Amino acid sequence: MCGIVGYSGNEDAALLVMQSLKRLEYRGYDSWGIVSLSNNKLSSEKKVGRISEAKLSLPKSKIAIGHTRWATHGQVTKQNAHPHLGCKQKVAIVHNGIVENYLTLREGLLKKGHKFSGETDSEVIAHLIEDEKKKAIPFEKAVANAASKLDGSFAVVALDSETGSMVGIRKNSPLVLGIGKGNSFFLASDVNAFLKHTKKVIFLEDNDLVLLKGHHASFFDFKSMKKLKKKEVEVKWSSEEAEKMGFKHFMLKEIFEQPEKAIATMEGRLVAGKVVLPEFEKILKKANSFNRIIFLGCGTAFYAGLVQKYLFEELCRIPVEAEYASEFRYRNPVVGKKDLVIAISQSGETADTLAAIREAKAKGATLVSIVNVVDSTIARESDSVLYTRAGPEIGVASTKAFTCQLVAIAMLAIAFAVKRKAVSKSKAASLVASLKKLPVLMQETLEEKAVIKAIASKYSKKTNALFLGRGHNYPIALEGALKLKEISYIHAEAMPAAEMKHGPIALIDKEMPVVFIAIRDQTYEKVLSNVEEVKARAGKVIVVTDKGNTVLEEMVDDTIFVPKSEELLQPIINVIPMQLLAYYVADKRGCDVDKPRNLAKSVTVE
Ligand code: F6R
Repeated sequence: MCGIVGYSGNEDAALLVMQSLKRLEYRGYDSWGIVSLSNNKLSSEKKVGRISEAKLSLPKSKIAIGHTRWATHGQVTKQNAHPHLGCKQKVAIVHNGIVENYLTLREGLLKKGHKFSGETDSEVIAHLIEDEKKKAIPFEKAVANAASKLDGSFAVVALDSETGSMVGIRKNSPLVLGIGKGNSFFLASDVNAFLKHTKKVIFLEDNDLVLLKGHHASFFDFKSMKKLKKKEVEVKWSSEEAEKMGFKHFMLKEIFEQPEKAIATMEGRLVAGKVVLPEFEKILKKANSFNRIIFLGCGTAFYAGLVQKYLFEELCRIPVEAEYASEFRYRNPVVGKKDLVIAISQSGETADTLAAIREAKAKGATLVSIVNVVDSTIARESDSVLYTRAGPEIGVASTKAFTCQLVAIAMLAIAFAVKRKAVSKSKAASLVASLKKLPVLMQETLEEKAVIKAIASKYSKKTNALFLGRGHNYPIALEGALKLKEISYIHAEAMPAAEMKHGPIALIDKEMPVVFIAIRDQTYEKVLSNVEEVKARAGKVIVVTDKGNTVLEEMVDDTIFVPKSEELLQPIINVIPMQLLAYYVADKRGCDVDKPRNLAKSVTVE
């Protein structure tokens, strides 16, 4: 959701900013822009389109800022691309977030004689800073004063031609400082921007301001301008992990990384038939005090909660709800001390999830999270965090983060069930053994890629699709439909298989492909009846079923076989064909798989 970068150091700043922006392009790719400072003058280059396809013509400099945009306010035009400059061209800013009161601020600035060149909410920030600078106060104070007038969310990097300093400031939008060689500095929306140059970082927190001047970084609370001491940490991700490594797309690479990332997520956490989660000891001690568990997340992360609601309830015998974070926040939810809220987020920065957890916490709930990005805002605001170890997920459509979330929640459920004495030790040990076997089964499923690719090719010209499953495979059907829509732009819907006959069956004709998840489990016979209903109406049936189910294979048009796992863990296997099907359909249709239209990774606006 917009990528911002700043660099201050000894190397060619504009070039480094451009390279870093290319690595952040998954956050937005409508337009881009860079401003560099040389000879006390700001030079700007802005373009509509993708930075990955662009060349730079800015002069060499030691300090520059840049932005790759995902439009919220104002169309995709060169004028609306960041950086935005003040009237006197002495201040430039890049912004990620939304300034909710920008219309009022803009009106006030217009009255004072400021002239705007675009329609974005962000442009007011440059003019506000310019206005504050007239008070002859230090640049950082001018930025802080301007920020205090903003409602909404922001991560801003501002550049001043008069002092040659750069300021980063944040509230409810991510911003991280990278400390490079010879005290050079990067400021960016996420670490992927500069992993090639440094792994030493300082994560800024809400209300933090960092001033970069020469080779020094100083930190302040922007509300009080009190100096702060910040902790430097080392990021474990490698820069190679953020490369395609020979795969055509990041999404495909990330799908194929799943067995390895599942192993990483389990590493050190499954010991001698037990789940060992030191980071959760405090919460697990209270396991018997909770009356309810609520999963909160958005999109794919929400579906992870919906899948594991079944497993958690089955193992722990506790009521579990899964809710869209965006809905939870706005309905004055009944939640309190007896509730354990589990937030799920790959990025740890999703604005809707963040708002929902703050609401839950304010009402007294215990808050834990399943997060991929270490030290992200959701992670920091949680009472305990269980990190998925999926590594950087660059493809906009989430894949490996999802399966790692399912694995992490399964481990948590087993630990919880043991503490609540809801399962026997031997049952827990057998679940642990099944978890350990998962990566091999995931690998076996990936080996079906040629079959899935051929099926994808056969249906790639269709304009609609239905995905059906029952029980914990219903959310997997939802995930299959979401993956297909977001990367191939084919309209797809998902529902519990039995619901089809209550209306959607009217859609079935020979043009309608219907994907069934039909594993031979307790709901199998019922799903089989639904398959018959579709066949009777000439619909095209594609099934995902367990190996050896030749009876079903003969009934339907296309079959994808998957290995059988412990029933409670089967969704972790079943989602892989959904991901591959969507990927190969989208690729066949010539879609830009890693950067689907209108989307961006990490939705940091509500
Ligand atoms: C879909 C997808 C999104 C995210 C959602 C939440 O493929 O990637 O639906 O799952 O925006 O993002 P996180 O997990 O970062 O909170």
